[in-house]
Amino acid sequence: MLRLPMRIQPNHHLRFVAVGLLLGGLVGVACSGEEPVDPDARLSVRVTPAHRAVVGEVMRRNLSSIHQISTAAARGDLRTVASLADEASKAPGPGGTDPTLRARLPQGWLDIGKGVDAGFAEIATAARSGGAPAQMNAGMASLTGACLSCHTTYRLVVEED
Ligand code: HEC
Repeated sequence: MLRLPMRIQPNHHLRFVAVGLLLGGLVGVACSGEEPVDPDARLSVRVTPAHRAVVGEVMRRNLSSIHQISTAAARGDLRTVASLADEASKAPGPGGTDPTLRARLPQGWLDIGKGVDAGFAEIATAARSGGAPAQMNAGMASLTGACLSCHTTYRLVVEED
């Protein structure tokens, strides 16, 4: 299974690792003589259609927060960056929005979710302490690292209510 670390370090060696993994996978399939298995090996989280709608809504809000924060940062409005990032770090995730969904979420999902809150909080702190570009970018990197970590680990499988 592909598990990315919470903090993704941009590193060109990763490209070679990825190519190596891909070739290794192809050779493995060719030699085994079996049908290729589902290449999407992410862990399934079974949810109802209503749960899925909650996840989608929270996710679009996440993306919208990142967009608004980046827009405010681009015009040097650190006060707005800090308040948007604070607000986003306190906003409930999918589990906090719907207790019946929360009951279905694995601990790993919840832990990664805390990484999203921490990433937004890191951006708020960076903005309040002067908004040095390296510090702001470090916060954005932790935040998007948490997004990626979940997206590469979990997927929803929708069941009827
Ligand atoms: C703990 C897990 C988790 C975290 C953390 C997470 N996501 Fe998601 N996200 C998902 C899953 C699962 C889906 C797929 C939902 C589906 O199948 O409909 C998704 C879907 C999305 C979508 C598509 C929404 C749509 O309209 O259908 C966007 C955009 C998105 N995520 C953005 C983000 C961003 C930005 C972050 C970080 C700030 C983030 N996500 C963090 C689990 C997560």
